[in-house]
Amino acid sequence: FRSDIGVIGLGVMGKNLALNIADNGYQVAAFDLDSEKVNAAINQETAERKADKAPRMLGCNNLTEMLASLVKPRVIVLSVPAGGPVDGVCNALIDAGIETDDIIVDTGNSLWTDTVEREARFKGKFVFFSSAVSGGEVGARFGPSLMPSGNKDAWQYVAPVWKAMAAKVDPETGLPIERFEPGNPVIEGEPCTTYIGPAGSGHYVKMVHNGIEYADMQLICEAYQLLHDGLGLSAHEIGDIFHGWNQGSLNSYLMEISAEVLQQDDPLTGKPLVEMILDKAGQKGTGLWTAVSSLQIGCPAPTIAEAVYARAVSTQKVLRVDLSTKLAGPAKVTLTDAEKAEFIANLEDALYCAKVCCYAQGFQLMAMAAKEQDWSLDFAEIAKIWRAGCIIRATFLQSITKAYQDDAELANLLMAKTFSDSLSAKHMNWRKTVAASVMQGIPAPCISSAVAYYDSYRSETLPANLLQGQRDFFGAHTFERTDKPAGEKYHLDWSAKERTLSKV
Ligand code: 6PG
Repeated sequence: FRSDIGVIGLGVMGKNLALNIADNGYQVAAFDLDSEKVNAAINQETAERKADKAPRMLGCNNLTEMLASLVKPRVIVLSVPAGGPVDGVCNALIDAGIETDDIIVDTGNSLWTDTVEREARFKGKFVFFSSAVSGGEVGARFGPSLMPSGNKDAWQYVAPVWKAMAAKVDPETGLPIERFEPGNPVIEGEPCTTYIGPAGSGHYVKMVHNGIEYADMQLICEAYQLLHDGLGLSAHEIGDIFHGWNQGSLNSYLMEISAEVLQQDDPLTGKPLVEMILDKAGQKGTGLWTAVSSLQIGCPAPTIAEAVYARAVSTQKVLRVDLSTKLAGPAKVTLTDAEKAEFIANLEDALYCAKVCCYAQGFQLMAMAAKEQDWSLDFAEIAKIWRAGCIIRATFLQSITKAYQDDAELANLLMAKTFSDSLSAKHMNWRKTVAASVMQGIPAPCISSAVAYYDSYRSETLPANLLQGQRDFFGAHTFERTDKPAGEKYHLDWSAKERTLSKV
């Protein structure tokens, strides 16, 4: 049994990637420290395979066995938790005899700086390549969005497998071609994978994808709370509204699954399941990394950061329960049916506008990071490979693709006519939603921070003039003047009796 490609780590993602690769005609060698997981993968491959087809997966007992079965140069996909386990497996592969030309592809949600460091550290031992994966369980099995980066020759070598296993988009419509049938992979259409750039860039792009994912999820959650607490609608009714919105400009995978979650009843109590789920959000760190990176780079991404804070405040349940009886809020308002309908229509526009802002933040962040790191990222291609397979897939990404195709150097998506026109048309409804949330005491941190973001960018002047005055007052930090050349620094002697201005 000669294997074309190895997969190490057969958790949900690794097993499904292995089955996906096998479906596309490659022989896969599979290994996991837990032999039960190896057996489960082999059993699933056997069960799903058509009777007339030969086995496509080899279960390995150890890494030496895997290395022996692979054609050279070897390609081994790692699907292990980010951090220490990635180094652990790489070192174990060195001990097992991996060779200089062999390629290891890290598909986890690794911190991008770790990827840069690993590529340098493993040079000469093997080629450390990375390919971030988005799409969850189903994506991994039937077509994820893949964000490869690192050594270009390694990319040339693995590209056919990557293009085969990636999700596909209909080039005419820009819509995903969805077929979830074992043994019948989607081979037609444009694959959702493209070489992103040098080591670390793919993981950076995936990190930002997740930052956008956090914000988009939180926006939908805020809409749910506004409809639930503000209008008193049931989970099912809100599910119906989301289902309706999913037919329009808010069409996205996240909107679709949110509607489905809201419509699900609890098998134990018969109540809507969402009402039985504890309101404490988990997180694994990618949203936080995005927010941190935006602060370090100095690229405003308040909607993404607010989404991370929203998860944090959700976990402080005990404090919230306590404060819910101590802090005053507005009295409940009762709306007429006409007012309710208007509230819902405004909210749809608000969600759209805030969503544009969170994508604008993510794309600008990638652009600024690329400048800093000297990566040349192709944003039209990045938007393209997010149109299917990944968690933030949305028809909306077709417009983003177009915006970057028209202007590859776009400083911010708000500059693209299609978005500036739609936000200009909808912004008043967005403001009404924010005003209603504030007046009704329902938190909507992402929807409202996005308005401030929008208003900040449309402000020719901001109060940073006063801020510079404050800084100069207490710390002699100097300021530039509006009537003098840029870069000239001035200081007022604030503590002197006679305040004099000096050029510094
Ligand atoms: C994806 C997802 C996936 C995962 C993240 C988010 O693109 O397929 O983003 O990578 O769900 O780890 O997880 P948290 O919400 O737990 O941070």
